[in-house]
Formats: sequence, C-alpha cells, structure tokens
Amino acid sequence: MYYAFLGHQPDLSRLELETLVGETTRITPEVVSIGEEGHNLMERADDLGGTTKIARFRLKVGEDKLLENLQTLIEESSAKNVAVSNYSSFKLDPSSLYKMKEGVLTVRKVRFVSFDDFGHELLMLKKKHVAEFNIIPLEDEYILAETVWIYDGLSFAARDRKKPYQDIKRGMLPPKIARIMVNLGTMGEKGKTIYDPFCGTGTVLAEAMMVACRTLGSDLDSFAVKGTLDNLEWLKTRYNLGTEYYASVADATHPVLTELVDAIVTEPLMGPLIDSRKVVSPQKVANIAKGLDKLYRGSLKAWTKILKKGGRVVMIIPEFRLKDRTIKTTLVDTMRSLGYNHILSVPYHKPNALVVRNITILERA
Ligand SMILES: C[S@@+](CC[C@H](N)C(=O)[O-])C[C@H]1O[C@@H](n2cnc3c(N)ncnc32)[C@H](O)[C@@H]1O
Repeated sequence: MYYAFLGHQPDLSRLELETLVGETTRITPEVVSIGEEGHNLMERADDLGGTTKIARFRLKVGEDKLLENLQTLIEESSAKNVAVSNYSSFKLDPSSLYKMKEGVLTVRKVRFVSFDDFGHELLMLKKKHVAEFNIIPLEDEYILAETVWIYDGLSFAARDRKKPYQDIKRGMLPPKIARIMVNLGTMGEKGKTIYDPFCGTGTVLAEAMMVACRTLGSDLDSFAVKGTLDNLEWLKTRYNLGTEYYASVADATHPVLTELVDAIVTEPLMGPLIDSRKVVSPQKVANIAKGLDKLYRGSLKAWTKILKKGGRVVMIIPEFRLKDRTIKTTLVDTMRSLGYNHILSVPYHKPNALVVRNITILERA
C-alpha cells in the first residue's frame, strides 16, 4: 500500500492521481491511499503536478506501540539522517521521544533532522537525503509509512521563475496547476497533441511538453506568441526535449489549424484584474461576465471543428463571488448545447477570493 500526499488543491490533485494511476481511498483531507496491485504509481509519479510526496506502508500499530515500532524502523533503516512527520493527532511527547532516540543510538549512529507535526519542508528532505517516516491515522490505529518519492519542487519553480518571458498581467497560472490540467486533458496518455488557444506565456504548453506531448498554441497578441516561442525553446534546451511545438497569432474564436487535436487545455482571458479590497459595482462585474461568456461561447463553438470526437477541453471558467450573489460566466447547459458533455468542474481559488476559477472538463460529444 502507498500513501499519496496531495498539494494545496487536494480535490484537483486527487482527480489527477486517479486519472493517471487508478482508484484511491481518502485517509485525511490531504492523504489518500493506493493499493499496490495493478497500479503504476511509481512509474507515473514524476508526471504528476498535484502530488507532493509518496510514502510506502511499513507498519500498522496501536498508540501504545507507536514509538517502540518507530524506533525499530529507524534502527533498521540505513539512512544517516532521519525525520518523522506526524499527520495524526498523536502527540509526540518530548520525554518518550527522548527515550526512543536514546534507544536508536544504542544500536547505530543516526542524525535526527526533526520531528514535525505538520510535515517537513520537502526540499530539505530531498536535498539532504533524509529518510522520513510518516505517522498517518487510520481509524483507531496508526500507519507508519516511509517516504519513497518527493516531487521536484525546484524544477517546477525554475519553470515558473526562470523562463525568459514572464508577464504577470497575463495571469500567473502555476506550472503545477497547468500540469494537472494537461494530465486531465490527455487522461495521462503520452504523445498527444495539445492546443492552447489563449497561450499567453506558454505555461500550459510547457507542462504538456514535459509529459511528451506535441504542442500547438495561439494568442491574439503577437508579443505573447513571441514570448511563448522563446519560453518553449528555453524549455526544450534546458530539459533536452525532443517534442515539437508551434505557436502563431490567432483569435481563439477563429483558430487556424491544419489538423485535429487530441485535447484543448487553456486558461482563457479572465477579464480585467479586479481589486477585491475595493468595492466593485455588481453591474460592472455583470458586464465583464457577459463579455467573457460571449468569448467562451464563440471559442467553444469554433473548437468543435478542430477537436477530435471524444477529445477533452480542460478550461478555466471563472465566476465572480460578490457579497450577496455569484455571477457566472458560461453555464454548463450552454456548454452542452455547443456540443460537449460536461464531465466535471473543480473550483480553484484562494479563500475569500472574488474570482473563483472552475477547472472545467468537457468532452467533445
Ligand atoms: C490569462 S492569459 C493566459 C496566460 C497563460 N495561461 C500563461 O500561462 O501565460 C489570457 C491570454 O489570452 C489572450 N487573449 C485575449 N483575448 C483573446 C482572444 N480573443 N483570442 C486569443 N487570445 C486572446 C491574451 O493576450 C492573454 O495572453
């Protein structure tokens, strides 16, 4: 049995994990378990955008035996540096911990990095080659699981911050969310052709290239298209990628493609930036939503001509949460009437944000 630790967007991360490796069982809001048979979790781990850590089952114990068993696991481990992350309500009381540490040290030399109640800084664990044991609650007992994989946070951060063309005005789609969206679009299959008709700085296309997809992009703004091409060339060199990419200037409602694509994955225009600290008139927001709805409808209609039958659109559809009401943009019924089956929408937003971004999965009917 494996345990996957989900990132800041647990629902979305779980959906991605299930799309790539199969069914999971929820243990806590941030931890799910995955059975060992029939799953290719370890082979697919590096493709995931939403899972931060994977641990393998070692023991299941009652509270009275927890520290004793933890001591045995640490004694048996060959690692010089050891950490414990506690995801349960079990209290790691200092005097019993001290006794356990003393017990380990009579058997072998070990450096205890720390005992943490909130999980460790994963970068630190990865860099210092630390063996980590996780305490996970399961009904009245506890699972002791050893970390076997940690996501490559440095690589995701480099793609976010070191790419040559950056533009915060175009939105700041985190590469991890873009990777999740790509995986939901391809359903985890490699080598697919992905199109982003609002490509901006090319974040979606970059993450698609990282999982061996052919990528096509376009944007209304020629400056953005040039920036996307610069970013994708930088990516190709940095990671020595062999995948093809292409980007051109086009309106999303009139894509100029000479082939059908497997999936459309995109963060479209979200309207002007609205400062949530200031009072905004509902009428102004309603007008923005109306304009966006028109653009999304026009785009979705046009995309039925360039998307393979059964292919997916994974698109962020915003809605605006005002104090006393929610103003939507494009409705699910409209998407259906345009020729799509609505699979799912998962909201993604900061607490109390005015704009809620619904990651919407559609299938071309
Ligand atoms: C939210 S940004 C996309 C940001 C992108 N995901 C990234 O990572 O940089 C939306 C983009 O849509 C473009 N855009 C606006 N209206 C458009 C239209 N009608 N057709 C195509 N692109 C459009 C803008 O120029 C902008 O680059």
